[in-house]
Amino acid sequence: MKAVAQSVYGSADVLALRSLPRPVPRPREVLVEVRAAGVDPGVWVNMTGRPYASRVAFGLTRPKVAVRGRALAGVVASVGAEVTTFKPGDEVYGTCGGGSFAEFAVALPRRLAPKPVSLSFVEAAAVPISAVTALAAIRDAGLRSGDVSGRKVMVIGAAGGIGAYAVQLAVAAGASVTGVCGPGKVELVRSLGAADVIDYTTAEVDSLGAVHDVVIDTAGCRPLALLRRAMTPRGNLILAGGGHDAGGLLGGFTRQLRAPFVSPFVSQRVAGLTALERAEDLEALTPMFDEGTLKPVIDRVYPLADAPAAISYLAEGHPTGKIVVAI
Ligand SMILES: NC(=O)c1ccc[n+]([C@@H]2O[C@H](COP(=O)([O-])OP(=O)(O)OC[C@H]3O[C@@H](n4cnc5c(N)ncnc54)[C@H](OP(=O)(O)O)[C@@H]3O)[C@@H](O)[C@H]2O)c1
Repeated sequence: MKAVAQSVYGSADVLALRSLPRPVPRPREVLVEVRAAGVDPGVWVNMTGRPYASRVAFGLTRPKVAVRGRALAGVVASVGAEVTTFKPGDEVYGTCGGGSFAEFAVALPRRLAPKPVSLSFVEAAAVPISAVTALAAIRDAGLRSGDVSGRKVMVIGAAGGIGAYAVQLAVAAGASVTGVCGPGKVELVRSLGAADVIDYTTAEVDSLGAVHDVVIDTAGCRPLALLRRAMTPRGNLILAGGGHDAGGLLGGFTRQLRAPFVSPFVSQRVAGLTALERAEDLEALTPMFDEGTLKPVIDRVYPLADAPAAISYLAEGHPTGKIVVAI
């Protein structure tokens, strides 16, 4: 099969389109014929081995997994002997550990769900990591239960992969959303339902005052003190990401690590977010796509051979929604 793989860490030119053996599913695995694969900053982290602390998990001197990509949408080709929840021909979406920038990938059933019928494979591949992370942030903010009407939520990186979903999910929950994005994306963020939009090149995130009950930060690596100035005294700051390429051992993840040491000493809650890749979360999102409450925002679609260019584009740091590799 054709796959985009690497032998050493580095920039996108370490990636090459190779012919590799088709993976064989183990008894508890599913073999998926990949139709489309999502591109997200985690792919860049796996490719570069940066921040350097990520190498503890992904391989100290070179990547343990050669094929890049995690998010996928495709058709089940075969299943292992112990798999009862999927069968050949099922259309699925989810994540895999062995690389989705490939014609075939093996995945665990607990990381796959039936694809939303209303989404194409390209659209479905734009969901698994980003929308699941947005859902985790919305849940962590307490916006999935109880009366949230009147609550003000700020999403930083509102036009990005996670942010575009977070805006839509917060609006669907009944919150009033302030989206923070760069120039040229204000209208898009408004179209996703944001009541207010801050173009961060003309105003900072605290420019509306300490009015937000929740701040979900996906981008930009701003200091915690600045983020807290945008929140009410009992506000909830959720650090979903940002600044993974900030350099050093931990990149921008130092803010997430500092959060538990800051939170007990301030009136606001400051918390890092770690989203899990679970079928239950995809199943919770599926009806929202099929009912039209949520829609993927797709920036660019690249053919498999151009996956390195897709990652390079993402690494520029300003995608509008999601980038997808079509296979
Ligand atoms: N916590 C978790 O479990 C989890 C899971 C997945 C990913 N992540 C992390 O979450 C982060 C975001 O992921 P993503 O997929 O949303 O990335 P993305 O698709 O690259 O989006 C980032 C967005 O941030 C905007 N941005 C860039 N600089 C900014 C700034 N200074 N202020 C405000 N916005 C800015 C960018 O566009 P504009 O500047 O043009 O607006 C872009 O739209 C990454 O660091 C990723 O590693 C965390």
